[in-house]
Amino acid sequence: MRNRFGSTTPISITTVLIRPATNADCDEILKIFREIVVAGDTYAFDPKMSREEALAYWFRADTHTYLAEKDGGVVGTYILRPNQSGPGSHVANAAFMVAPKAQASGVGRRMAEHCLSEARRMGFRAMQFNFVVSTNTRAIHLWKLLGFEIVGTLPGAFRHPEKGFVDVYVMFRSLLED
Ligand SMILES: CC(C)(COP(=O)(O)OP(=O)(O)OC[C@H]1O[C@@H](n2cnc3c(N)ncnc32)[C@H](O)[C@@H]1OP(=O)(O)O)[C@@H](O)C(=O)NCCC(=O)NCCS
Repeated sequence: MRNRFGSTTPISITTVLIRPATNADCDEILKIFREIVVAGDTYAFDPKMSREEALAYWFRADTHTYLAEKDGGVVGTYILRPNQSGPGSHVANAAFMVAPKAQASGVGRRMAEHCLSEARRMGFRAMQFNFVVSTNTRAIHLWKLLGFEIVGTLPGAFRHPEKGFVDVYVMFRSLLED
């Protein structure tokens, strides 16, 4: 039988599956978390933070934690939660981590689209990223593609391992319309 490209050669289409994370996923998530935090160029986390501290952050009580799987392996994780409590809780915050070996292959985009859809489903009215390092061009490209705008700049707020003190952006988008 011919496939949609007119060829009879079988085509392997790998899809990224996104699902809520469970306690059984902690080790896989921590592996990705550590690789990204140790690189030190995207998040302001202490690279020496303990397993307990990392899990407490990623699985905080008000947080929805998700996992991305591809070919049966864990390739990414993201969290979604209120950016503030009380009168600020209608604005969501999210954070994303794709395993270094799986980066730049569409996993981040897939997770971010899923996240926006989940945030809408939960009734959030907007989403805010509080700490986007200005040298993180891939993330900034992706967030702009998905409708986020830079609404503020924190001068020199991040100490990059190679570039020194660099700016940090606050990025925001409404979820009320597309
Ligand atoms: C940022 C991150 C989540 C993006 O996920 P990803 O799976 O690597 O990215 P994707 O493959 O979905 O690609 C995103 C887009 O960026 C583009 N891109 C890739 N590398 C790029 C680069 N160096 N500069 C600019 N754009 C780039 C891709 O082409 C794609 O755009 P397109 O759909 O228009 O082609 C991921 O790289 C990551 O976890 N990085 C480390 C942690 C991090 O930075 N988290 C976000 C903190 S704000």
